[in-house]
Amino acid sequence: MLWNDQIVERRDCINIEDRGYQFGDGIYEVIGVYDGKPLLLTEHMERLERSAREVQLTLPSSISNLKNRLEDLVSLNELEEGIIYMQVSRGAAPRWHEFPADDISPVTIAYTRPEERMTTIENQGATAILTEDIRWLRCDIKTLNLLPNVLAKQKAVEHQAIEAILHRGETVTEASASNVFIVKDGELYTHPANNFILNGITRKKVLQICKESALKLHEETYTVTDLLEADEVFITATKLDVIPILKVDEHTIGTGSPGKVTKKIVKAFRALYEQEV
Ligand code: PDD
Repeated sequence: MLWNDQIVERRDCINIEDRGYQFGDGIYEVIGVYDGKPLLLTEHMERLERSAREVQLTLPSSISNLKNRLEDLVSLNELEEGIIYMQVSRGAAPRWHEFPADDISPVTIAYTRPEERMTTIENQGATAILTEDIRWLRCDIKTLNLLPNVLAKQKAVEHQAIEAILHRGETVTEASASNVFIVKDGELYTHPANNFILNGITRKKVLQICKESALKLHEETYTVTDLLEADEVFITATKLDVIPILKVDEHTIGTGSPGKVTKKIVKAFRALYEQEV
């Protein structure tokens, strides 16, 4: 694993005064690895840099150095298919809420985990549930504070669903660990990239695919009713890629099988990463 700037044997010890541990005071990224190569690593590192800026955390090394270290880690671990998890916490210091003195260094860790591609679910589709979005108002920052996401995902799992789609009142925002798209009359809708959602790297790729395939996409809010009455629904996230959602709670979406537009996006996304890796 990567421990600050060193690649070391995996360690499971953490300083009990680490602010990531005590306050969730830190940021993270999850990067997909396909055929031994991290996908869209630059985009993930740029988002990490933005998250750091937004929580006033100074990254301990340059993005290009971090990228090299993560690539080294993938090749040393001989990872073919899976993910890289990396996080940077503000560091370890006696527990006071305010930032510690400047001489505290952020703690960076990264490790890899083998994970299969989701090809079967991508082809067959999955189900989701709806639950209220109870998160804070800066969901655009990829911070370690994930308790509302954890609770929502747990609820999904208890209902044998792949995801919990979140709504603030009537407005659908995103899902516990993915972005949500709906299709109505051949046109796509997804929540705008503002403080209510994480601007997914996969989401951004889907926007690009839509542009290139002349599919009309609206970055606009839509309601729970719009979601339930959509012709197609799909979710996007790192390593999940693009998953058709066929049922939300008790409501069947469209015909109850993966729709035409979703299939087109799934295919284009696969082609994209096959090209890039
Ligand atoms: N989560 N929205 C939320 C709340 C997320 O946690 C994620 C990803 C996404 C999709 O982002 P991307 O396409 O960049 O992966 C959207 C990661 C995978 C996780 O926390 O494990």
